[in-house]
Amino acid sequence: LAAEHLLELFHSLLPARQSGHPRGLLSMLSQEARHIGYEDTNVIIANGIGFLSQAYEATAGLIGNTLLALSAHRISRQQVLANFDLLPHIIQEVLRFDPAIQNTRRFVAQSGMVAGHHMHEGETILVVLAAANRDAVANPDPDRFEIHRANRRIFTFGAGDHNCPGKMLAATIARAGIEQLLTSGLDPESLNVPVLYRPSVNTRIPIWGAGERSA
Ligand code: HEM
Repeated sequence: LAAEHLLELFHSLLPARQSGHPRGLLSMLSQEARHIGYEDTNVIIANGIGFLSQAYEATAGLIGNTLLALSAHRISRQQVLANFDLLPHIIQEVLRFDPAIQNTRRFVAQSGMVAGHHMHEGETILVVLAAANRDAVANPDPDRFEIHRANRRIFTFGAGDHNCPGKMLAATIARAGIEQLLTSGLDPESLNVPVLYRPSVNTRIPIWGAGERSA
């Protein structure tokens, strides 16, 4: 039901935006899509909804996990509170160490060998990006949280043609949100309490309020 309402809402927004506000994000998306040959309104709308949900869900998780890191790591917290210019550094380490999106998928286009396994056309590969971030070959001493980590490698936003187009935007939104919370008087140490995570197969979004901390 919710999905149907969302589709109806976007269908009703698209013509309005095209006539009334030609520079709106949705109409720009539609214009660009048509420009490169995508005429199907349903596809354009599905991508618009994708922008909306990723910007909301994944970025909420990034903000939440950064607050959690600030609450848990005393030295990083002291450094960041003394100098907000370090916020982008802690956000990057959180993206590596405790990513809000844990995995992505690939679908086999043609039968063949993938990483030593025979796979058939149409099969799914679950790519656990969060595990790749903790590969010691990519990031030495990977289980150490280090905001000044040299040559950090982050796989959180995927790779190749479908890698996340929102990675810089997400880090910017997270920085602005966290800075606003800190300047409004939020004490991150007060968040060092057990949290729950929203039930999900690929996101890691903390919820403060009740219960034991789940994995
Ligand atoms: C403003 C915020 C964001 C926007 C607008 C956004 C948008 C998108 C879009 C449209 C895609 C699909 C790309 C495609 O299939 O071609 C995507 C993919 C993805 N995004 Fe984001 N995203 C945002 C934030 C985030 C954050 C915070 C994370 C992780 C913490 C994230 C992780 C991913 C991953 C893992 C993929 C799949 C990459 C792959 O399969 O290679 N995104 N994003």
